[in-house]
Amino acid sequence: MKMHASSILYEGNLPKTRSLLTLLIGMLIGFCVAELISFMTISEDIKSINTLASNDLHMQQPTKDVGVPTLDVIEHEHPHDNTTLADQLKREVRLLCWVMTNPNNHKKKARHVKRTWGKRCNILLFMSSAADDELPTVKLDVEEGRPNLWRKVKEAFKYVYKHHYNDADWFYKADDDTYAVVENLRYMLYPYSPETPVHFGFKFKPFVKQGYMSGGSGYVLSKEALRRFVVEGIPDPKMCLPGTVINEDIEIGKCMENLNVTAGDSRDVNGRGRMFPFAPEQILIPYKDPNFWYWNYIYYKTDDGLDCCSDNAIAFHYITPNFMYVLDYLIYHLKPFGVLRTERLPAKLKVGEFMPPPKEEPANSNEDSMDDYDRLYTTEQPIEPDAREVDEDKDDIEKELKTEKNLRTTKKPET
Ligand SMILES: *[C@@H]1O[C@H](CO)[C@@H](O)[C@H](O)[C@H]1NC(C)=O
Ligand SMILES: *[C@@H]1O[C@H](CO)[C@@H](O)[C@H](O)[C@H]1NC(C)=O
Repeated sequence: MKMHASSILYEGNLPKTRSLLTLLIGMLIGFCVAELISFMTISEDIKSINTLASNDLHMQQPTKDVGVPTLDVIEHEHPHDNTTLADQLKREVRLLCWVMTNPNNHKKKARHVKRTWGKRCNILLFMSSAADDELPTVKLDVEEGRPNLWRKVKEAFKYVYKHHYNDADWFYKADDDTYAVVENLRYMLYPYSPETPVHFGFKFKPFVKQGYMSGGSGYVLSKEALRRFVVEGIPDPKMCLPGTVINEDIEIGKCMENLNVTAGDSRDVNGRGRMFPFAPEQILIPYKDPNFWYWNYIYYKTDDGLDCCSDNAIAFHYITPNFMYVLDYLIYHLKPFGVLRTERLPAKLKVGEFMPPPKEEPANSNEDSMDDYDRLYTTEQPIEPDAREVDEDKDDIEKELKTEKNLRTTKKPET
């Protein structure tokens, strides 16, 4: 029956069906052969890539020792950029930057600060214990070495006050492995009066009631804060610690509090951070170990991923000289074509006035951005805490804070 039917079909449509079948079979064979060939070629490629990778040096990436930036890194300008607002900021928010360095780092680090972000400050000074004509440096009469950091900071600000008090409105201290986006620093400061006693940085919670600014990403003092520090603070042992210690950032933080200089909030209007004590990668993809000292130190809770960081971020720390050039390229040159962001300046504040605290909007789609760490290390208590959990954490934090001095010293940078 079947035979019959198909033979009828066969017989009945003989010429048409045969050619159609031939075509289909031909296509099928062709397809199989093509697949086979492409599979063989791909495995050939994989084989040759593996051979190259194992045998040939030219498959390796350059290591960090291969290149160091030279002084001839090519510069080019962008004559068609509209820098109207940045130019206005440069005139109205005059910024003196001073960079803490030492004789070992003049050539290795400090000169690359000058070639990259440093050149954008209105005034750029390098504070060292030795003279250097290329940078040049301000030769402070302070012995080198980490124990002398606090004395060095005081001498540096005394020099700045004596020689440049009237040349700038804001005074930014940075390390030679800090990278700062100077335009964004001016933008954050723009609404504030330089006569307001305030300073900004990345705020840490312990040791000082109002918090203190991490030394690594730098801190910026208003003109009035600088005056109080040098005129009322440094000479008065009740205000600022005489002599010297390693932790300059904690000491200046205590000093600022004694002098009624507010510890400002450097986050943007969305509550995203702008100044950071680590490199961008370490902030974007944070080290999650809850025992890491950082989680007990941060003043404001931070979100992970892109929610961590302001689109107008200001400063990062632990930036190698090479990466300073990479950041300069990424920030000042590379642009996605056809995307322009509209920007405008905020209104000015009166002396003593502050920006309202940021609105912290809950991340709308990212479950991970509200995780255990956020809950445990937020500056506010959860609404209905699990008593056992909270007690345990409090103990942990206290234990951590007792040992943190050691931890911290091991984590802190060489300057
Ligand atoms: C440059 O930007 C400023 C401020 O945003 C604007 O007023 C001006 O029209 C712009 N100039 C050009 C040539 O686009
Ligand atoms: C700081 O403010 C407090 C309270 O207003 C005041 O008693 C104190 O004298 C001020 N100290 C300085 C150094 O201005």
